[in-house]
Amino acid sequence: MTTAPSPTQAPSFDLLLFGGTGDLAMRKLLPALYMRHRGGDLPAHGRIVGLARETMSRGEFIDKVRASFDRFVPAAERDAKDFDAFAQRLDYLQVEANTPQHFEALAAALKDSKAAVRVFFLSTAPDFFAPICKNLAAAGLVHAQSRVVLEKPLGRDLASAQKINEDVGSVFAESQIFRIDHYLGKEPVQNLLALRFANALLEPLWNRTWVSNVQITIAEQVGVETRGAFYDRTGALRDMVQNHLLQLLCILAMEPPNSIHPDAVRDEKLKVLNALRPFTPADVETRTVRGQYRAGAIGGQRVPGYLEEPDIPAGSSTESYVAIRAELQNWRWSGVPFYLRTGKRMAERVAEIVVNFRAVPHSIFPGAGAGTPGNRLVIRLQPDEELKLFMMAKVPGDTLKLKPVELNLDFAEQFRQRPMEAYERLLMDAIRGNLTLFMRRDELDAAWRWCEPILHGWAQSDQAPKPYSAGSWGPAAASALVGRDGVVWREEA
Ligand code: BG6
Repeated sequence: MTTAPSPTQAPSFDLLLFGGTGDLAMRKLLPALYMRHRGGDLPAHGRIVGLARETMSRGEFIDKVRASFDRFVPAAERDAKDFDAFAQRLDYLQVEANTPQHFEALAAALKDSKAAVRVFFLSTAPDFFAPICKNLAAAGLVHAQSRVVLEKPLGRDLASAQKINEDVGSVFAESQIFRIDHYLGKEPVQNLLALRFANALLEPLWNRTWVSNVQITIAEQVGVETRGAFYDRTGALRDMVQNHLLQLLCILAMEPPNSIHPDAVRDEKLKVLNALRPFTPADVETRTVRGQYRAGAIGGQRVPGYLEEPDIPAGSSTESYVAIRAELQNWRWSGVPFYLRTGKRMAERVAEIVVNFRAVPHSIFPGAGAGTPGNRLVIRLQPDEELKLFMMAKVPGDTLKLKPVELNLDFAEQFRQRPMEAYERLLMDAIRGNLTLFMRRDELDAAWRWCEPILHGWAQSDQAPKPYSAGSWGPAAASALVGRDGVVWREEA
């Protein structure tokens, strides 16, 4: 498979990676930069400086990166010569968020740099965002061509998100702030834009007249792994719904922007978020389901329940599963339920969007008529990227028996090209200064504003999350949630 060519050459840059020895840097960010280096997308001057608390020499940092690549770069992409060339770009500096002298040392290291742009990537806990930004400004490190990239979680409610945005915004202009939602960097999410706005076929059907309901699922097989302490403070709503699921909903439901300009796209996404029907306390009871996994089996292996995972406090009521019946209050989508769900330790790892169309208004086929299901479009984001359109067809034979059959578009087979990892695209966009795939501050606020009543409702409820077995599709209450509308989740259909 070949590597996708990039649209424009990136400008020369210095990338300052806070949390440079952390999990995300080793697992995702540095491998992504290596892949773009290998693809020939990084300019001659493209320096990457790992910044972290520990004292470490440049050589030790390079050794650590090399060792992590053995785990996180696919074997077919590992190449000693390429790695050595990539390592030329790497440097390391000890920088503690609260130590101004460390920032002065960083300023000294960057003093003679000829790089056109400077990208600060904050892959740290959000508590460090404010001191890092303050110290960057105090050391004179922020200039007009500087950008800051923020990793989630951006807050745990509206007030804390606003505080982060104010702290960062006191140093960087909004046009310099790149808030990552890595789902927006996934190839299939880009394809969703292409599907909707480069094809005329779907648009006339893309509304309440023809769509009966939409299901958006991000199911994971993994549990909380080593992140128990973080996850238990966070839960599935904050971890997945407030960001990834709502962003997918935005791209699916937004009006066509008049261009791909970042603000044109983000204005339309914001309108979707603002159109989400707010939750009343009664809605929280009837339109949401939260669950927590119990011990079960995944791929034939026994796995422990949520409460038995490391660092989870006894009796925790944090949700590892959420299902929500959302609605949009606008002309296009009024009355169409959008069912959102996500969970850990589920039967399969799958992220997909299912658009269920209405059935034909009148059937001419005796016997098959009343039960004829509507067409269904399935946009699968992972594990494989696929687009399936289910159409009714006649089963061969001398009776008029109908059956849904699928038109299947497999992108891997079609393009025979390695799809870019989300972080490859997002890092290159941050270097190039393209904000289209990053969340604007008002989007983040709107998403929190919608999620907060759900969090409050749950906090006040005396009901515990509904148990579900690891390896299942979630609690039975989630089937009941859609069942009340006469709908079933796709895997139950
Ligand atoms: C992250 C969440 O944002 O997304 C994780 O914090 C989750 O809990 C991950 O596992 C899922 O991302 P992906 O790309 O593996 O679907």
